[in-house]
Amino acid sequence: MFETERKGRILIVDDDPGVRELLSQVLSEVGNYDTDMAADGVEGLERVRSNRYDVIFTDLTMPRMNGMDFLQKTREMPSPVPVIILTGVSSMEIAVSAMRKGAVDFLTKPFTLDKIVSTTERVLGEWKLYGRLASKQGSDVSLKILNSELFKRLQEIGSLHSIGLEVDRCHDNKEIYARVAEMAAKLLAVQEVSFGIIEEGRLTIRSAVGIGQATFSAAGPFFDAILGARKHVVVDVGKPNPYTGIPLMSQLLAIPFLAGNDVFGILNLSGKADGTAFTEEEVFIAINLAKKIASKIENNALYEVFFNNIVATLKSLITTVGVRDSYTKEHSERVTMYAIRIAETMGLPPDEIDTLRFGGYLHDIGKIGVRDTVLLKPGGLSDGEMQEIRLHSSIGDEIVKPIRFFDRERKVIRHHHERYDGGGYPDGVAREEIPVIARILAVADTYDAMTSHRPYRKALSREAAVAELVRCAGSQFDPEMVKAFQETLKEEEIPNVIGRG
Ligand SMILES: [Fe+2]
Repeated sequence: MFETERKGRILIVDDDPGVRELLSQVLSEVGNYDTDMAADGVEGLERVRSNRYDVIFTDLTMPRMNGMDFLQKTREMPSPVPVIILTGVSSMEIAVSAMRKGAVDFLTKPFTLDKIVSTTERVLGEWKLYGRLASKQGSDVSLKILNSELFKRLQEIGSLHSIGLEVDRCHDNKEIYARVAEMAAKLLAVQEVSFGIIEEGRLTIRSAVGIGQATFSAAGPFFDAILGARKHVVVDVGKPNPYTGIPLMSQLLAIPFLAGNDVFGILNLSGKADGTAFTEEEVFIAINLAKKIASKIENNALYEVFFNNIVATLKSLITTVGVRDSYTKEHSERVTMYAIRIAETMGLPPDEIDTLRFGGYLHDIGKIGVRDTVLLKPGGLSDGEMQEIRLHSSIGDEIVKPIRFFDRERKVIRHHHERYDGGGYPDGVAREEIPVIARILAVADTYDAMTSHRPYRKALSREAAVAELVRCAGSQFDPEMVKAFQETLKEEEIPNVIGRG
C-alpha cells in the first residue's frame, strides 16, 4: 500500500488510555505522524532514551513519575525534544510553571481535532526555526518573539479562566446579564460591547460598555446569519453597523449565545483598543467566553425551573398535611418566623437564615407518614403511638433526601427533636453535634407548641413558656439559643399566638 511520508515521530505520555489513544489516532490519521505511547513518566523516559522524537505530549498528573519531573528529565538530555503539556483549564497555574521549566506549549482538555494538529504543526515549525536560528546570531531575538507570543496566549487563557470563575460566582441570570458586557470588554480589550437577549423577534440589550442600551428588531440579513447558522459574524470597517446603519469605524464581532440549538442572545464587540481587526485567537477567545457564560445561563434557568417545581411539590405536600392537621401548617409558619428571629439575633450568615426559612416550613413534613388515628388523636398517646409520631423527623428526612438542593434543610428536618443533652431523637446526638439551625428550630418549635391550644391541653402564657425554656436550657436546649430567643422577645412584640385545636 502506498503511504505518504510521515511528518515526524511523536511520543504521547498520559496515564489515561482514552486520551493517549485519541491523540495517537488524530496525530497519526489526520496529522500524518508516527506515534508512540507511554503510561507515565518512567515509561516515557525509557522511550525517549531509546528513540528519536520530534515532539512529546505529556500529561501532568501521572503515577510513578509526574509530568513536571518527566519534563525536567527530558530537558537535561543532550538533544532536547519540544514538550507540549496536556492540561485542564483548572490546572493552568501548573501549566504556567511547566512553561517556565521549558515546556514549549500546552493543550487544554477537552481537545479539538484542529487544535491537536495545529499545535503540533506550529511547535514543530517554531522548533525548526529555532534550530536554524540557534546556530546564527540573533537567536535570542527569535526566542523572545516566541516567548512573548506564548506569554500573550497564557495571559489570555488565564483571564478566560478567571472570568469563568467570576461567572460562576454570579448568583442568578439577572446578575450575569448585567455583567456580560463588562467581562467581555475586559477580556478582549475592546471599547464598545453590548449583550442582548432575543425575545419575540426583538433583541433587547441587557448590558453595554461604551454605548447606550436599546431594543432592536432582530430581522434582516445580519440576524438571519447569526440566528440561522448559529455562528459568529464579523462586519468589516466601512460597512453599515447592523444596529445603527452608520458606517463602522472599526470591525464588529457578533457572537451568538446558544441554549441547545437555539440562539437566545448576542454579544457584540467593536472598537478594539489598538484599532486593528480581530485575530483568529481573539475570535476563539470570544466564542469560548460566550460558551462558558451561555452554559451557566442555561444551567441557572434549568435549575430555577427544577427548583420551583420541587418547591411547588413540597408546598403541596405540606398542604396535604395541613388538610389533615391544620395545626401543623400554621405551626410551621410560626416556628419559621421565631427561628429566623433567633438566627438574626445571633448574627447567623444569610445562607443559614435562608435554610431556616425553608427548613422551618418543612420541618414536620414527615407527619405525612403518620397515621390519622395517631396524628389527630385528641387524648394522650400510648408508647407505641408516641414511637410512631417520633418517626416523623426521619420520615421527613427520607422525603427530602433525594433532592440534593435540600441537603442543609434536611438537617433541620432530621434533627429538630434532638436534645442538647443527647436524649432526643432520631440520632441522640448532643451539643455541637446537633446542627446550629436544628438547635434553633428546637427552641422555636417547643415555644410555639407550648403557647398553642391543643385538643389535649390549654396554651401556656408567654411568660410560663419562656420560664419552661429557661428551665430546660442546658438539658433540652442549647442555652445560647434560649438566650437569643429571650432577646428577640424583648426587642419585638411577638404575639402570643393561639393555634386552633
Ligand atoms: Fe416535629
